[in-house]
Amino acid sequence: MKAVVCTRYGGPEVLRLTDADIPVPGDGQVLVQVHAVSLNASDWEALRGKPLYARIGGPFRPRHHVLGSDIAGRVAVTGRNVTRFKAGDDVFADILSCMGGFAEYVCVPQAVLAPVPAGLTYEQAAALPQAGVIALQGVRDTGRVQPGQKVLINGGGGGSGMYAVQLAKLDGAEVTGVDNTEKLEFMRSLGADHVIDYAREDFTRNGRGYDLILDLAAYRPAAAYRRSLMPGGRYLYAGGSVATLLQVLTMGPVLGRAGRKSIRLLAVRLGVQHLDPLVELIRAGKITTVIDRRFPLSEVPEALRYLGEGHAKGKVVVTIG
Ligand SMILES: NC(=O)c1ccc[n+]([C@@H]2O[C@H](COP(=O)([O-])OP(=O)(O)OC[C@H]3O[C@@H](n4cnc5c(N)ncnc54)[C@H](OP(=O)(O)O)[C@@H]3O)[C@@H](O)[C@H]2O)c1
Repeated sequence: MKAVVCTRYGGPEVLRLTDADIPVPGDGQVLVQVHAVSLNASDWEALRGKPLYARIGGPFRPRHHVLGSDIAGRVAVTGRNVTRFKAGDDVFADILSCMGGFAEYVCVPQAVLAPVPAGLTYEQAAALPQAGVIALQGVRDTGRVQPGQKVLINGGGGGSGMYAVQLAKLDGAEVTGVDNTEKLEFMRSLGADHVIDYAREDFTRNGRGYDLILDLAAYRPAAAYRRSLMPGGRYLYAGGSVATLLQVLTMGPVLGRAGRKSIRLLAVRLGVQHLDPLVELIRAGKITTVIDRRFPLSEVPEALRYLGEGHAKGKVVVTIG
């Protein structure tokens, strides 16, 4: 089979399309023929080994030689003790813990697989896992957005932001999306009431306050976010720099205390089993999955470069076979 391999940290140029043996499913595993795999910021981070947390388990070399975590495809072979799936089933999964999606086949524990929801294509299913749960938990489960609230999504034009902006809008919030110049119109098209170009305006210094800030690209000191929260407001760190993460973890509880504000980490429960409410909204036509570009497996380096250089509006998907 073909697979895209990286054996050292670096840019897209360290990736190689190679021939590899088709893996054999172990006990409780399923061999999936991958038809679509979507890209996430976590792939870009794991490729470059930055931020530092991306090197957990692989301080000098990538722990996983084949990246790609959000997959959709067809069951080819089942291993021993697999009871939930059979050859020919269409499935999708988030395999962040083992990776391996940038390949024609990957072995996946049956526990993390789910059937592709009826009515969704492989590409639409592959777009969902990480981006979907981050948005769902950031806006609904943890964010608890209420009608009329002011919500800011920092990084609103990326994969998770695409779902988060739409969900917050659907739940009746007044939504501000922050991202780069290229993505302002895109965020408006998703329903954002206001958009901010992060290169031109620092939203923590414009004097406006928010009930919820969902931060998918956190690079500021924790104290800066505090001044952008209304009394009772909540800031959720989803991703960004290690420096900001450490400040949120250590100083967040103290900073938040005055003014009943909350500054904390969004610890996402990953897994496609959490996606049902979002899938229902997609099937009802209330939320759209925007796939900006599709690339073949041989062009995974270009696909990652496109994402990493900040051009992707919504999701980028690699289609295979
Ligand atoms: N908390 C958890 O449990 C958990 C679990 C999984 C993943 N994550 C994290 O959650 C985040 C999800 O991101 P994603 O998949 O939506 O990534 P994405 O598709 O790359 O989107 C991130 C967006 O943020 C923008 N951005 C970068 N710097 C910015 C800044 N300073 N201000 C505003 N926007 C900025 C990016 O644009 P540019 O191209 O201009 O950079 C991009 O549009 C990632 O950081 C990931 O590591 C968290």
